[in-house]
Amino acid sequence: MDDGVKDPADIKNRIQALREALRHHNYRYYVQDDPEISDAAYDRMFRELQELETAHPEFASADSPTSRVGAPPDAALKTVRRSVPMLSINNAFTDADIYDFDKRVRKHLRSDDPIRYTMELKLDGIAVELVYQDGMLIQGTTRGDGVTGEVITANLKTIKTIPGLLRRQDNSFPPQRLEVRGEVIMTRDGFSRLNDDRLRNNDPPFANARNAAAGSLRQLDPAVTAARPLMMFAYGIGDFSGIDHYASHYDLLCMLADLGFTINEYTRPGVTINDVIDIFRHTETIRESLPYDIDGMVIKVDSLEQQRLLGATSRSPRWVIAYKFAAVQETTTVESIEIQVGRTGTMTPVANLRPVRIGGVMVSRATLHNEDEISRKDIRVGDTVLVQRAGDVIPEIVKVITAGRTGRETIFRMRDTCPACGSRAIRIQGEAATRCVNPFCPAQIKERIKHFSSKGAFDIDGFGDKLVEQLVDRDIVRSFADIFRLDRSVLMNLDRMGEKSADNIIAAIEKSKQIDFNAFLYSLGIRHVGEHAARLLADAFNDVEQLMAAGTDQLDEALRRTEKSAGKKEERLVVSDSVKRFFEDPHNQELVRQLIDSGVSISYRRSLTSRENRDVSGKTFVFTGTLKNFSRDEARALVEQAGGRISGSVSSRTDYVVAGADPGSKLEKAETLGVPIMDEETFARIIRSGTGEAPFPGGDPQ
Ligand code: IVH
Repeated sequence: MDDGVKDPADIKNRIQALREALRHHNYRYYVQDDPEISDAAYDRMFRELQELETAHPEFASADSPTSRVGAPPDAALKTVRRSVPMLSINNAFTDADIYDFDKRVRKHLRSDDPIRYTMELKLDGIAVELVYQDGMLIQGTTRGDGVTGEVITANLKTIKTIPGLLRRQDNSFPPQRLEVRGEVIMTRDGFSRLNDDRLRNNDPPFANARNAAAGSLRQLDPAVTAARPLMMFAYGIGDFSGIDHYASHYDLLCMLADLGFTINEYTRPGVTINDVIDIFRHTETIRESLPYDIDGMVIKVDSLEQQRLLGATSRSPRWVIAYKFAAVQETTTVESIEIQVGRTGTMTPVANLRPVRIGGVMVSRATLHNEDEISRKDIRVGDTVLVQRAGDVIPEIVKVITAGRTGRETIFRMRDTCPACGSRAIRIQGEAATRCVNPFCPAQIKERIKHFSSKGAFDIDGFGDKLVEQLVDRDIVRSFADIFRLDRSVLMNLDRMGEKSADNIIAAIEKSKQIDFNAFLYSLGIRHVGEHAARLLADAFNDVEQLMAAGTDQLDEALRRTEKSAGKKEERLVVSDSVKRFFEDPHNQELVRQLIDSGVSISYRRSLTSRENRDVSGKTFVFTGTLKNFSRDEARALVEQAGGRISGSVSSRTDYVVAGADPGSKLEKAETLGVPIMDEETFARIIRSGTGEAPFPGGDPQ
């Protein structure tokens, strides 16, 4: 202990309080599928209790949540005791925790040799167990409290990835008895479709895919489960008889695959503890692009003999650990709700939150999207809420923790005037957004100027938000072309502006005048024209005059040219219609003319770099094997031209490995590290197309 002696009574009270709280939260999470706190907050309480109990063994208790799994089962469902308990897994949160785990394993096994691990995704779903007798599925249960599970056989039978009858590929007899364990999950797509349906039917939406999967499984009517998009990944076994001897966990997984179960494709057998860290880092970067939620990775000693020697504590086996990703959800309170006016006048309500650290970043604001979203989630000022931050996306409120309400919360009402200019705000029928209709609204102008000067548009270095706000507030800049009329003396009159910074800004403005056609189009802030659409338009038209004169058909044709938008005619029409209307407006024609008169020079070269091939630009490639259609030097030149890099060896920092004929050990290394591998054809396609189309599903952040 750090600060000297603590009163034993205080410690005992704290332990009791933590135990009680954890029991309550177990119940909310496992039985009601409706947690009241974030997983991270739960993990913190759990660790605090674990540490106190370790430091004070005199207060140990067999029924502490630290020595139990899950929560008692739901009274509405039938329950059953299982022969081999389903234990839990210890959590690791840092690399040091992982190295400690490896050290403990080797110490226990009295081994100096490197341990081989199998690494799996930690799927964020519901643990289930399936009992097969002579190949027939006779019972399916939830984990429950580990020993006692809830019987949900009929529900599990409706899931397509759960075989009702086991069959080996070679038609030999299935095992006499086999208990298969795995995770039932709902994909993110399935989850959002389900929630859309529920909202249409006025049913309360689920907070996340895990809760939706849990709620779908614990139904009294299997027809409800059957209608839900569920699947199962198998990751282990319980009791068994009549099966061969298997040497490793991975062999077991292969046996399960042979019997008809689905094994997760990201499973990595036979890795060392150093690989574990690399793979974890890499998986963290692809986490958002997976079709389902994961909350970490599970690391298992691969040798079954070593697993046996290691054994288990009452709560968890010693041969496995879960390395958890930094949390993406936390609880906090809504301090106020304010309205932000965007560049097209959209009035977006934004929640000011009591600052909270999520995944290493302080979060103090969350978007509330629009009025309907607020009333759908019933978010009130003063509420305790669960906040989520994922990747670069703006933080969002997942749900209100209604148990935290005091009655002093206030309901939000959308205002009918713009907070920035006082003009009337309207909500068009059929649209969710309320808009300020004044095109000269200073808030809109500020946002348009910020967009105009941002990266991907004119990219004016040093043109930050504070500067833009001053320039608009003082009426110095009202339209884009005003930026190019700025001079040193005007800038030097502004707050916090020295000679040097003024000069730098003038130089940056001057430099920005040379601009690629696609960036120019993007900078105009045409509704529905993001970087992708701007690139398509820039590729299809010779110059801005031609684009300005184009009809809807021509625009539609230009946008049709990638697979990405090919199927979605309606979306394309929204974009082409918006572009057409923009350029029909005489003000906007004047705007383009003014920009060109101010010395803006649009570059129409259609090289790869001008199109910013996002699949290649900034990415590191490694080549292995012989390419048919390129020499290594040609391949290097193409990658570098498109803004990418070539490296000689594979590491966790490699973005893609291109494998030609007879690839070498680099291919194996790439496989171990989970680096995407492409063949020569794919490489040729992405290096030539520059369409922004991702070579791997989910590989493209847009
Ligand atoms: S193995 C004793 N493997 O994580 C080890 N569990 O707290 C048995 N989970 O509820 C579990 N993905 O449902 C294992 N690849 C994986 C997993 C996994 C997710 C869940 C499991 C359990 C929780 C452990």
